Amino acid sequence: MLRVEGIEAGYGGLPVLKELTLAIERNEAVALIGANGAGKSTLVRAICGLLPLAAGRILQDGREIQRLPAHERTRHGIAVVLEARHLFGELTVRNNLELAAAHGERHGTAQRKFHLDDVIELFPFLRTRLDAAVQLLSGGEQQMVAIARALLLQPELLILDEPSTGLSPKVVREIVGALATLRSGGMSILLVEQNVALAVETADRAYVMALGAIVRELDAAAWKSVLGDETLLQAYLGS
Ligand SMILES: Nc1ncnc2c1ncn2[C@@H]1O[C@H](COP(=O)(O)OP(=O)(O)O)[C@@H](O)[C@H]1O
Ligand SMILES: [Mg+2]
Repeated sequence: MLRVEGIEAGYGGLPVLKELTLAIERNEAVALIGANGAGKSTLVRAICGLLPLAAGRILQDGREIQRLPAHERTRHGIAVVLEARHLFGELTVRNNLELAAAHGERHGTAQRKFHLDDVIELFPFLRTRLDAAVQLLSGGEQQMVAIARALLLQPELLILDEPSTGLSPKVVREIVGALATLRSGGMSILLVEQNVALAVETADRAYVMALGAIVRELDAAAWKSVLGDETLLQAYLGS
């Protein structure tokens, strides 16, 4: 469904992504792993339209989307949970979710799968916190609001940039559980994650990134046994 073809992008004069190519098929969960500074977040920004390309193409279901502004890409079924979340802290949880839902409703094509009730079912704590200002929630709760908000954009592909970083083990379990539920509901997922053990639980296969390029592609079999592959973990993740 998503094809990234030979893209190049960076910041000012600094090139980061170098002829990077990857693909995510429908109903697939794919992990993107790599050390700090490898360019994972830069790739996420390029895919969702927050960073212009210097070269290459991004295709969603065969249509070029690399020239569309970020908000238009959600219409093509791509929603992203950025590292910094970018929630409206002074607004309530409900307001944050409703803003996304309103945008999601304007999609011509999507079948509007997610309603407020659905994201509450996925993250039950939301029910009692709907009228709280987002800035009063814990980091873990904010992350779940950010994921819920992304779902209300009615994506076919959900991109998450290091969703577990800095969160308690309990919240991480909740998020992993929610991703599993989404997977079984047919959601395609691109999971950027430094915690390989966690990514293995969610993703079917993986790409390894280093210095702005994809340096390894792990098929389902290689990915399943990645935790035993000391050489790979050492070489690309320094762990
Ligand atoms: N806003 C920015 N301006 C300039 N350089 C940046 C910016 N964001 C990231 N970089 C640089 O781009 C490279 C890739 O960073 P990033 O995509 O954040 O990596 P990762 O997410 O894999 O840790 C790093 O060298 C980083 O210093
Ligand atoms: Mg990053």
